Amino acid sequence: MAIKYLEQADFTGKKVVARFDFNVPLDKKDNKTITDTTRIDMALPTIKYLLEKKVSKLVLMSHLGRPDGKPNPKYSLEPVAKYLAEKLELDVVLTESCLDRSMKTLLNLPETKIVLLENLRFHPEEENNDHDFAKVLASYGDFYVNDAFGTAHRKHASTYEINSFFKNKAYAGLLLKSEIEALDKVVNHPQTPFVGIVGGAKVSDKIKIIEQLLVNVNELLIGGAMAYPFLKAKGFTVGKSLCTQEDVDLAKHILNLPTGKKIVLPVDHLVSSEFNGPASILDTVNIPDNKMALDIGEKTLALYSQKLRTAKTVLWNGPMGLFENKDYARGTFGIAETLATLDAFTVVGGGDSVSAVNQSGLASKMSHVSTGGGASLEYIENGTLPGIQALKFGI
Ligand code: 3PG
Ligand code: MG
Repeated sequence: MAIKYLEQADFTGKKVVARFDFNVPLDKKDNKTITDTTRIDMALPTIKYLLEKKVSKLVLMSHLGRPDGKPNPKYSLEPVAKYLAEKLELDVVLTESCLDRSMKTLLNLPETKIVLLENLRFHPEEENNDHDFAKVLASYGDFYVNDAFGTAHRKHASTYEINSFFKNKAYAGLLLKSEIEALDKVVNHPQTPFVGIVGGAKVSDKIKIIEQLLVNVNELLIGGAMAYPFLKAKGFTVGKSLCTQEDVDLAKHILNLPTGKKIVLPVDHLVSSEFNGPASILDTVNIPDNKMALDIGEKTLALYSQKLRTAKTVLWNGPMGLFENKDYARGTFGIAETLATLDAFTVVGGGDSVSAVNQSGLASKMSHVSTGGGASLEYIENGTLPGIQALKFGI
């Protein structure tokens, strides 16, 4: 069975209950200011499409943060409701709870068009994929639309179980569609040369994606703290750099795979005596005992950029260094600058590299920037996700 897309449905006069991933970062000081609206912005085309198709009601659902099954004002979707109302220039009614007893009345009020349910994760049933909870959510719509790519790796009531109530009436939204198309190109039909770039903190977090990517890529460039266990596994010294024995063992395992030769490692670094301390250039691979590396160096950036120059497909996951500190942002932003100039299909996935690309102002120069962190990783590892499978095959 194939996924059904929006254009296959007649939404006129119908109630639609739609799952999005409005899990956006909020300013820690006030828990109200959205610091990156990308996920909401990327959901707008689907919302606008459904409104244009003259749905009678649009019930929007999402989670925000991890409130652990209890109501908590810190994780209210209120800022999202406000932002949506501004962007759509329409009223958005936020319910007190997604199980609100007044929903029946609300759904019958002709003047309310858009309802946003309060955070689904205020109820433990959401993450428990509870059947009865999904049934209540399903009662809000004649049709179900899932556009929550960022949450499609979770088998939750609103992403998974809810499908059981919408046989032949469940559709993928426009964002979900574009995410699947872009990632499919990389996973199943990459044009070669295909170069992968993997960074971030721990080998153990990304071992599966590294092994998976090594099968298809021509070269895999490693950066970030993840580089040091690899260097240590090859016999170089890494000083005080972040590096656990577990990660060194995993790195050894990867380097010994038949595909391990495709791994490319840094040849120089930016180092410091302490975390976030002043940066100095280290022109060698070996890192002395009293230093820790916090970014790739200029020679490495040049080497990686040269390897990327001829690529036809690039997948980037994870930053090259401690880019939150501008002294150690050069490697990460340098990679973004190189990708922006390529004549290649460039995909950026994974929360930190996506925020780096957004900060660099170069997001529009990439072929695709995924709204999924964990979801894009799991998609690359497994070629699908539970939320997508449920849409495709029903449950
Ligand atoms: C995310 O940001 O990773 C998604 O919104 C899913 O949230 P979760 O990781 O808390 O399940
Ligand atoms: Mg996550």
